[in-house]
Amino acid sequence: MNTADVTITIDGRAVTVVRGISVAAALINDGMHTFRSSVTATSRGPLCGMGVCYECRLEIDEVAHRRACLVTVTDGQRINTGQRPRQ
Ligand code: FES
Repeated sequence: MNTADVTITIDGRAVTVVRGISVAAALINDGMHTFRSSVTATSRGPLCGMGVCYECRLEIDEVAHRRACLVTVTDGQRINTGQRPRQ
């Protein structure tokens, strides 16, 4: 880790990411393309990347339904997708 990195927690797992990127980019870089499931259990993930489609909604720092494409990563940030068990 260097000064250009921050550590976030994705579903209980610590991940070091580049400072300044969006939460959506951090998750995609980590190999995650499904961010949540719809009410009909359909896999959903980022579509527009600019805050319009709401398909990237996640729980970030215990606030539900935040758009991951609009939130910048910060050190210690906690992200819960519900896709992986918390550790
Ligand atoms: S990807 Fe469309 S609102 Fe985030």
